Amino acid sequence: MKTDGQLRADEVYEPIERASRDEISTLQLDRLRWSLRHAYDNVPHYREAFDAAGVHPADVHELGDLARFPFTSKDVLRDHYPFGMLAVPRERISRVHASSGTTGKPTVVGYTAADLDMWTGVVARCLHAAGVRAGDRVHVAYGYGLFTGGLGAHYGAERLGCAVIPISGGMTERQVQLIADFEPDAILATPSYTLTIVDEMERQGIDPRASSLRIGVFGAEPWTEAMRREMEERVGIDAVDIYGLSEVIGPGVAQECVETKDGLHVWEDHFYPEVVDPETGAVLPDGSVGELVFTSLTKEAMPVVRYRTRDLTRLLPGTARSMRRIEKVTGRSDDMMIVRGVNVFPTQLEELILEQTRLSPHFCCVLTRADRLDALELRVEARGAAADADAVAAGLALRKRIKDRIGVSATVTLHDADTLERSAGKAKRVVDLR
Ligand code: DLL
Repeated sequence: MKTDGQLRADEVYEPIERASRDEISTLQLDRLRWSLRHAYDNVPHYREAFDAAGVHPADVHELGDLARFPFTSKDVLRDHYPFGMLAVPRERISRVHASSGTTGKPTVVGYTAADLDMWTGVVARCLHAAGVRAGDRVHVAYGYGLFTGGLGAHYGAERLGCAVIPISGGMTERQVQLIADFEPDAILATPSYTLTIVDEMERQGIDPRASSLRIGVFGAEPWTEAMRREMEERVGIDAVDIYGLSEVIGPGVAQECVETKDGLHVWEDHFYPEVVDPETGAVLPDGSVGELVFTSLTKEAMPVVRYRTRDLTRLLPGTARSMRRIEKVTGRSDDMMIVRGVNVFPTQLEELILEQTRLSPHFCCVLTRADRLDALELRVEARGAAADADAVAAGLALRKRIKDRIGVSATVTLHDADTLERSAGKAKRVVDLR
């Protein structure tokens, strides 16, 4: 690692990161009551949904009372497209973002000036926890625009006191050139796009380990421990995870600390997490895997109450910070493939692909159905030519590992290096043709 190991474990960006659990709960209850009242008073949908469920913000006496409130799904936000979920007059909106949305209308989110300030603060806190420091140079290759990644990371890095290189995603050769010329300390990008940049460095004969990069802050899509090892070894960086979603704020909802790399601390002073059973909606105890649900505690423009993220994880106690952690989000219920009755996540395949040194983690899953039987084809790139005997052997070994570990029969199709489609943002891992 290029990190010099001088980070002190007790060094935090804000004192609240080390507050006692009691202090955090007291603050959360105060803020929760405010947020539910704000949503009820100012967003017709919440008033109707709370009334229909027979609950009222004044009924909340402890944090557990939140469980009686109705969930909010992405469909609710879509039904109120574009601005029906806003809780403040339009003159108070300072910015709008929207999620890409693979189908139908995008979900639109709005921010007041105070929301932007809070968001900037939590991203600065994330970057600090990732080991980035004032004076560092930060290469932001998350997309700028309606996607929250670029601008969210940008303002957070500026707040921390960094010099931002706002390159956005795409034009990979130029990314490599500017990393060589500007010598950034940290790169902020999706892990899959970072891999594309690193491949390009190697194609140009540049050793990624010799670059100035010390830290990678990777998120916006699921990635595995195997991918962390790949990045850390190939680039000589500390690779840490950042999580967030537009409906809740953007990047900066939760962050992994560089000194522990043991899951992501949720910034619970602003975002209240619950994990629920995806089928029944029942709140699960900490430690159980289920769907992550968030209630915003301080957002003005677009409060969210029990927003169902579709992301699967579990809540764990705090370690490097007192706020609770989520385990790395390894899948979204939307990305789960059901192949002949077996649940398969792309991250499970990523883990197995990376066991094979002759294969690279550029891959895509194609699902088809013939004679009422599901078929899964895993298209994966070789590190070099697909016809190379070692690559072919790796492909066969991978097929066997998938059968043994996950229990499904997949066809593994090998592709030459640099031939599968790349994304400058989130990788598209599943193509369902059924
Ligand atoms: O992806 C915000 C973001 C930007 C996060 C940059 C981190 C870095 P959306 O486009 O609304 O927002 O997508 C949110 O992406 O519900 C997860 O399914 C997935 N996701 C985000 N971060 C992670 C992560 C941004 N670290 C959706 N691990 C979320 C796994 C992630 N999945």
